[in-house]
Amino acid sequence: MKDSNFLKENNAKHLWHPMAHPADMRANAPQILTKGSGVRITDLDGHEIIDAVGGLWNVNLGYSCDAIKDAMYAQLNALPYYSIFRGTTNDVSIELSWMLREFFDPDGLTRAFYTSGGSDGVEIALRLARQFHKLCGEEGRIKYFSLKKGYHGTHTGGASVNGNSPFRTQYEPLLAGCHQMPCPWTYRNPFNESDPEKLAQLCLQAIEDEIAFQDPATIAAFIMEPILGAGGVIVPHASFMPGVREICHRNGILLIADEVITGYGRTGSWSGSRHWGVKPDFAVTAKAITNGYFPFGAVMVSEHVADAFESDETGRAYIASGYTCSGHPVGAAAAIATLKETVRLDVKDNAAARGTQLFKGLKALKEKHSIVGDLRGGEGLMTALELVEDRETKTPIDPKAAKRVHDATYEDGVIVRVSGPNILLSPPLVISESEIEAILSALDTGLGAA
Ligand SMILES: Cc1ncc(COP(=O)(O)O)c(C=O)c1O
Repeated sequence: MKDSNFLKENNAKHLWHPMAHPADMRANAPQILTKGSGVRITDLDGHEIIDAVGGLWNVNLGYSCDAIKDAMYAQLNALPYYSIFRGTTNDVSIELSWMLREFFDPDGLTRAFYTSGGSDGVEIALRLARQFHKLCGEEGRIKYFSLKKGYHGTHTGGASVNGNSPFRTQYEPLLAGCHQMPCPWTYRNPFNESDPEKLAQLCLQAIEDEIAFQDPATIAAFIMEPILGAGGVIVPHASFMPGVREICHRNGILLIADEVITGYGRTGSWSGSRHWGVKPDFAVTAKAITNGYFPFGAVMVSEHVADAFESDETGRAYIASGYTCSGHPVGAAAAIATLKETVRLDVKDNAAARGTQLFKGLKALKEKHSIVGDLRGGEGLMTALELVEDRETKTPIDPKAAKRVHDATYEDGVIVRVSGPNILLSPPLVISESEIEAILSALDTGLGAA
């Protein structure tokens, strides 16, 4: 390992960071992290902090999960790689598919398609949705609907259905035929409606209206996050996702649940769809499937979609999609161990309890600090504070002030994620009561430093 002078000198000099301006990274070097243990990480200067970000919404079980590390090491020794492209498979991929089927059975999802992450999974689901309609003789169904503020990764298909312009504008033109619908964001919306239930109904009406305008026979799929994550933790009213499900069903449109964040317990339920009582046609999962220890994902497919593919005799159900690392044995072994630990520890219940504690504490911070314009969350460990200059005008906070909040919180022993005007909080699901209190206390310091 190179010494700390070398690391600091070369930090961000020879690599471009995702989701960052290269010049800004060179001018303001990122924190160098070197160790993780429990729910804490340690930086190069030996500063130990609680990770209130949970890696990137993915380290649900924390940094010390030996069962996963051991499984990965054993798999590296047994079979470090073999592909599952037509003709071969590996033992752990089979075992994992059986476990995923059991896990997602209540969601009606019975087949897995492995990927190397969330963006990969979104592309697969979008592609399979079009292919499904072609198989069913509805070649005209090619368009995609999604929600404004939704985030679906950065591949071109995912960016095309993305609902946040920063991820789109520099990469246009994107896919044609993608339509973003209003999302049920009570703090800012074109209907000027702050009642969650009424807003959900207005958004559903807008969706119906656009579907009729576009002609349902041209629409392949509707993709949505059960709770919008990267867009700022937008929690729809409980009637919203069931409403989308019903509209999709009535119009022959497939529903893709993007569960890259919400899968595996973060909402307080095992999946975000289950949280709202919805059975999607596809669910894209990744992130916490391996606790962040290996890049891996699984797109789950419902029984009726699977039927259409498996009963095809024309050859058109051939899945000409896949990745070199689809079903990577080390990833599959990591996922098996993660799933076992996730279920054994029943982390969804702790996510619900600690999420309630965190939300209550943040409500008190909102009362105390006028820069908190909006607080969103309350469903498991997905929470955001939207910071404003002024509560009346809702003017977003100056990015420099948001950075001061981040830095002072960090100095007080907790890392949070700043995304635009939002402070995003998504700690590991195994976090304890006292660690949540420590997050609240550090944030109190941070907000005071804005
Ligand atoms: C809802 C959602 N979908 C897709 C993705 C993309 O996943 P990945 O970064 O693993 O490609 C993300 C990543 O944050 C996400 O939050």
